[in-house]
Amino acid sequence: MCGIVCYVGEKQARPILVGGLKQLEYRGYDSAGIAVLEGGSINCQRSVGKIVELEKKINALEMNGTMGIAHTRWATHGEPTEHNAHPHTDQTRKVFVVHNGIIENYSSLKKKLQKGGYRFYSETDTEVLAQLIGIAFEGDLTEAVRKTISKVEGTFGMAVIHQDVPGEIVVARRGSPLVIGLSDDGHFAASDVSAMVRYTNQVIHLQDNELATLRKDDFVISTARAEPIQRTIETVEWRAEDAELDGFPHFMLKEIYEQPETVRNAMRGRLEPGEGVPKLGGIIPVWEELRRCRHLVIVACGTSYYAGCVGRYAFEKLTDIDVEVEVASEFRYRKLNFPPNTFILALSQSGETADTLAAIREAKRKGARLLGIVNVVGSSISRETEAGIYNHAGPEIGVASTKIFTSQLTILILLALLLGRHQNLSLTEGVEAIRALQLLPEQIQKVLSQANHIEAVAEKYHACQNWLFLGRKFSCPVAMEGALKLKEVSYIHAEGYAAGEMKHGPIALITPEMPTVAIMPKDDMYEKMVSNIQEIKSRKGPVIAITTEGNKELGDIADEIIETPATLDFLNPILAVIPCQLLAYYCANLLNRDIDKPRNLAKSVTVE
Ligand code: AGP
Repeated sequence: MCGIVCYVGEKQARPILVGGLKQLEYRGYDSAGIAVLEGGSINCQRSVGKIVELEKKINALEMNGTMGIAHTRWATHGEPTEHNAHPHTDQTRKVFVVHNGIIENYSSLKKKLQKGGYRFYSETDTEVLAQLIGIAFEGDLTEAVRKTISKVEGTFGMAVIHQDVPGEIVVARRGSPLVIGLSDDGHFAASDVSAMVRYTNQVIHLQDNELATLRKDDFVISTARAEPIQRTIETVEWRAEDAELDGFPHFMLKEIYEQPETVRNAMRGRLEPGEGVPKLGGIIPVWEELRRCRHLVIVACGTSYYAGCVGRYAFEKLTDIDVEVEVASEFRYRKLNFPPNTFILALSQSGETADTLAAIREAKRKGARLLGIVNVVGSSISRETEAGIYNHAGPEIGVASTKIFTSQLTILILLALLLGRHQNLSLTEGVEAIRALQLLPEQIQKVLSQANHIEAVAEKYHACQNWLFLGRKFSCPVAMEGALKLKEVSYIHAEGYAAGEMKHGPIALITPEMPTVAIMPKDDMYEKMVSNIQEIKSRKGPVIAITTEGNKELGDIADEIIETPATLDFLNPILAVIPCQLLAYYCANLLNRDIDKPRNLAKSVTVE
């Protein structure tokens, strides 16, 4: 997820664009760039790092002009370097493009262009867009962009300028957000209103496959088939600083609500529903060895570790692979001895967690092959593993990881499904699994619609100083993660436990002041969970049950019931964790905690 902003009007573009980038920085901050057109030439500057680095660079330069485009990057294709930073240009150096999204067929397009003699300077998908627009340009920039988007698959929010078309910016959208801003001083477009709300609150949200041609005094919106369309102008209520949070009080809540989209992104371009098999380009380099792998060790820390624990159950259900899950800070000191063709799978949002890095280096020393599932492109773990899969979930700013957990589960299940389909999993089982995966985004939306009910439950129990989270099988790691979320942001002491362990000790803790969150979908563990919560009820412990919608059997034994839509047992953790995330958020909010920057924690633990 990157941030783009552009402006054409009366005023000097540079300060408007730089100000807009700063508002969008939460979307990505590994590199940035700007291109301003004046007097028939385009001045383009790029830099690695946060916006301040770009600002330092251009402050020393003349960069006048009343129109321009700018970008802050969250790398997807190609590491965060100056030559991969946006804006990108074509071979004529006349077309400049900033882009937020992923062009899925960029490599085949690039190969075709290279065969035609076109040279490329970056590893990005966006440079392919610039080349295609340059080739299609015959004087009308809007038509050139329209022709180009008919050739590309994937997502984009893009803004384009051409040296020979002063006074005009063309923007287009498919899948990535893009808002147009209208003011007496000119026209804006950006990934979200935060970049322009300082200048206007009159906006139009472009829909998928729509283009807009922006000029100082007018703008035209049209479809991919060149039909002109009218769109209603909306009024934005927010202040600039609020918009960064897009109206949410905290990044944690915003990221919880992003999960329908981030789970969709984790699957984007990776499903072949007809074949019932996922396609994961990132592991092609090791596929021949991986498909024969019989021993997989998942290594991670914190929330990523709990995601790995769910992953193990999924691998055991869908493949014949023997799977271990290891806490990285312990694993690195173990006496490791791997059977041949062992793969290590490192899970990490930041890709910089010191313990996980050290663990994979130790495993490599002992001859294991290294894979990664990482969110931050170009991070150390993504560079030190031989192959891997990116989450494409965008920056996670809240220290308490939420959207990355569900994204990691989705990708772990895609990987298990891919390997399983190359072992004993049938086409029918594959198709059924992919159909259920595709239902997840709207099912997550359904769980989120219960937020008020979950807030009321938090209202009732947030003063309790000790909580227990229980689950069995797929739900057991969800219980651990639920307890971790509550601990991290509310500072309430919480324990996640395998429910079957209760009678071996923890049941001694049960009192009327200790709520238990029981994750108990209607799966093959359900009946056992019912007897576990009956043991708690008989000792007057309050029970908050997270169960499958339509289950009317718990009315007598659960004090609170939160329902999640029915899905396959190995997908249920993706739905069941969301009420746990919201419970933690609302308890922390009721206790006035600093939710996005909890005490003693850091977003990325780069020290041992
Ligand atoms: C989770 O909310 C915490 N931020 C923490 O446990 C985190 O999951 C852990 O530090 C691992 O981080 P990583 O995924 O970036 O490697």
